[in-house]
Amino acid sequence: MTYQVLARKWRPQLFQDVIGQEHITQTLMNAIKTDRLAHAYLFSGSRGIGKTSVARIFAKAINCEKGEPGIPCNICTSCTEITAGSSVDVQEIDGASNRGIDEIRELRESIKYMPSSSRYRIYIIDEVHMLTLPAFNALLKTLEEPPAHVKFIFATTESHKVPTTILSRCQRFEFKRIPLSQIISHLRKIAEDEGIEIGTPGLAIIAREAEGGMRDAESLLDQVISFSGQKVEEKDITDILGIIDRDIMFESSAAILEGAADRCLEVVEKIYNYGYDIKEFYRALMEQFRNLLISLIAPQKHLIDISESDREEIIRLAKTAGEEKLHLLLNFLISREEDLRFTSNPRLILETTMIKLCSLGDFLSFDDLLKKLTSLEKRLACSPVDDKQTNSERLSEPDAVWSQENRKSEAKGKPGHDQEDKTWDDFLSFLSTKSKAAYSILKEWQVLKLTGETLEIESGNQSFSSKYFDDKERYDQLVNYCREFFRKDLKVKIIVNHHAPARAQKEPKEKVFRREAPEDSKLPQTAQEILNLFEGQIMKENPIRTGKNSSKNIEKKEEGNR
Ligand SMILES: Nc1ncnc2c1ncn2[C@@H]1O[C@H](COP(=O)(O)OP(=O)(O)OP(=O)(O)O)[C@@H](O)[C@H]1O
Ligand SMILES: [Mg+2]
Ligand SMILES: [Zn+2]
Repeated sequence: MTYQVLARKWRPQLFQDVIGQEHITQTLMNAIKTDRLAHAYLFSGSRGIGKTSVARIFAKAINCEKGEPGIPCNICTSCTEITAGSSVDVQEIDGASNRGIDEIRELRESIKYMPSSSRYRIYIIDEVHMLTLPAFNALLKTLEEPPAHVKFIFATTESHKVPTTILSRCQRFEFKRIPLSQIISHLRKIAEDEGIEIGTPGLAIIAREAEGGMRDAESLLDQVISFSGQKVEEKDITDILGIIDRDIMFESSAAILEGAADRCLEVVEKIYNYGYDIKEFYRALMEQFRNLLISLIAPQKHLIDISESDREEIIRLAKTAGEEKLHLLLNFLISREEDLRFTSNPRLILETTMIKLCSLGDFLSFDDLLKKLTSLEKRLACSPVDDKQTNSERLSEPDAVWSQENRKSEAKGKPGHDQEDKTWDDFLSFLSTKSKAAYSILKEWQVLKLTGETLEIESGNQSFSSKYFDDKERYDQLVNYCREFFRKDLKVKIIVNHHAPARAQKEPKEKVFRREAPEDSKLPQTAQEILNLFEGQIMKENPIRTGKNSSKNIEKKEEGNR
């Protein structure tokens, strides 16, 4: 018997033999079982993943004389003829070589005739996207209302080239690339059946090269066997297929992650000496870093198409590097890919890129920084603190003022020193670092009482500022500041001053409490308050502010408003 290539020998003959397309085979089987057949189907997807095979199984299953619904017997005349490609009722037409209108007219003529010995006349048109536009148009009418005894199955690798008028008249099935693990196990089955000795790593290399196509995988296996004979070594495979050794990929990624530029240069030397394509190596390196990153972000198995042993190594490497660093390295690799494409000296570009990648890993990653911060925080929280200190006080630890206070207390040898030592002035200066707005209001007010339990303040007589703490949130905030500063829950009482003396008279008394405002004292008081409230800045002097009594005028106006 003449030698038959593996791809032909292993063409699936039953729906259940088709690997990785269960979503399609199941639907087609059900359609046959329930007798709900469409008159036209379109199978699309990349090369060698089962479109033609499924079309033939489907045709056989529809016309089979013996088998159960959806399962061709593969022994009846109809089945054997279809398998042999000699069936009169099932015609396979190559769209690429029969693309004109004449061929389609011929086809239209032939569909008028009833099937010779089966239930249906079935037309399988491969590479249907190759038909000319007039040919498609000639097909439209037929597709719309074909005779009941006719079924069409179109197959294409480029469904986007098929006119939508055709697409919308078909039931469409999108074939998927076959997952690596399924290709590996299918190849293993073939190798066992053929008596070929080949390890899983070797099969994985072949499968990976096939990029989801079963025909390609089988053809590569054919090629390898014809070189090595019955016993296939991994090295033979990488040599024959010109594939970069997995070891080199791991060696180079580990060297980059460890920042070992010298080892990277050795890898480049090796690649060069082995005669590997540098661009191919670069592509593989990007893939390697992509896998490293994905293994951390989304470790679901299907996202990384690699063998189990490689996966473990990838995860181990990735964990030592961390997400942040891998991100950075992969982004850099992507950004330099263009350089490699247009260079006359790819080796040089590869070397400089690898050296740069080594130094890119040197910085402290964001993750590391975060870890350091967290441990610092924990250390601070665990360090001995004053029992009197409340949680909120501890939380405010990083604040400069608070730390200063603490230091002061510690220096006196009295942690949590009595609030009696603290004056209203001290509080105001503390407040000025907390809330400029509250500070600018309170510095105008007067303290009536400050004891261990109570703080009594009298509001100023400015209409807008006297109501400032009427707002509950602001008042609560003030109480909080007091608690933070005096380390006590003070009762804060605000007494509204309706008859406050004029500012000028109040001045001497105020001086006792008031800290000198840092602001421009030449400004009218109200303007200064607004400035403080909004933490603003004078951008431009107002020309109105020329008269001697301008500030008085403003105050008068306010009085009038009250
Ligand atoms: N899903 C699959 N399961 C098992 N074997 C498959 C599968 N897909 C492809 N093969 C193998 O590849 C060979 C070619 O498959 P098939 O002709 O069905 O591919 P295709 O999708 O029609 O490709 P093309 O687009 O190149 O026409 C089959 O004979 C079979 O050996
Ligand atoms: Mg095909
Ligand atoms: Zn049959």
